[in-house]
Amino acid sequence: MQQLYPPGATADLEAAYACPPLDAGATWLRANMVTSLDGAAQGPDGRSATVSSPPDRVVLSLLRRLADVVLAGAGTVRAERYGPVDRPIAVASRSLDLDPAAPLFTEATHRTIVLTCASAPADRRRVFEEVADVVVAGETSLDVPAAVRALAERGLTRILCEGGPHLLSAIVAAGALDELCYTLTPSMVGGRSHRMLETPASLRSDWSLGHILEDEGTLLMRWVARRS
Ligand SMILES: NC(=O)c1ccc[n+]([C@@H]2O[C@H](COP(=O)([O-])OP(=O)(O)OC[C@H]3O[C@@H](n4cnc5c(N)ncnc54)[C@H](OP(=O)(O)O)[C@@H]3O)[C@@H](O)[C@H]2O)c1
Repeated sequence: MQQLYPPGATADLEAAYACPPLDAGATWLRANMVTSLDGAAQGPDGRSATVSSPPDRVVLSLLRRLADVVLAGAGTVRAERYGPVDRPIAVASRSLDLDPAAPLFTEATHRTIVLTCASAPADRRRVFEEVADVVVAGETSLDVPAAVRALAERGLTRILCEGGPHLLSAIVAAGALDELCYTLTPSMVGGRSHRMLETPASLRSDWSLGHILEDEGTLLMRWVARRS
């Protein structure tokens, strides 16, 4: 893997993706997303694995190791058939249309966290309270800052959001995204497909380029939000 930017430095993956030191109570919310050259966030089979690449998977697993918690939207959990990982997983869902008998809940070594809204059906909420740690944040849509605070209260301050496009849009719209790790793979999909953000977020152009790495034609980039 070579480092293209900043120029001249040797690519040290661990150092390149290290989270900044956090003050007590502070959080770091980073997202990791991949697209094809033509901007598709999913392949023709509706899964992101199809637009991923071996270097992307290396970084994905490193980012998971560097995180306290993996955060994903329910659409991603359903499409990618998320199972347990060696980190707590938090799933955002408005409808709670998830399977409580899935390994994500029954075989998790860390109790899965469900982030939902007050409008979620009460009976579904009761079902998930049996198998997960249910957090209500927001009325009809996730209150992203409140959800982040709820994770931080559990000691989960380094948050890795793995999408998908609807959840990430909400996070960006809330101004809560600290960092975007973005992989561009040498593939083309064509047709209609999710982009990285699905609903209007905000017109922000205050992102600083952290690095660009290259491996087998895959570009691995890191962008950090500039805070005033
Ligand atoms: N290229 C990539 O890096 C990447 C990454 C992740 C996913 N993907 C792809 O993206 C596709 C899925 O897209 P998606 O946009 O549907 O995924 P998503 O954002 O993971 O899921 C959407 C669902 O998550 C919940 N959700 C999202 N935002 C919410 C909010 N603000 N408040 C409350 N609940 C919220 C809702 O769940 P309920 O429906 O349960 O209410 C919503 O229907 C799949 O094809 C997946 O493979 C690609």
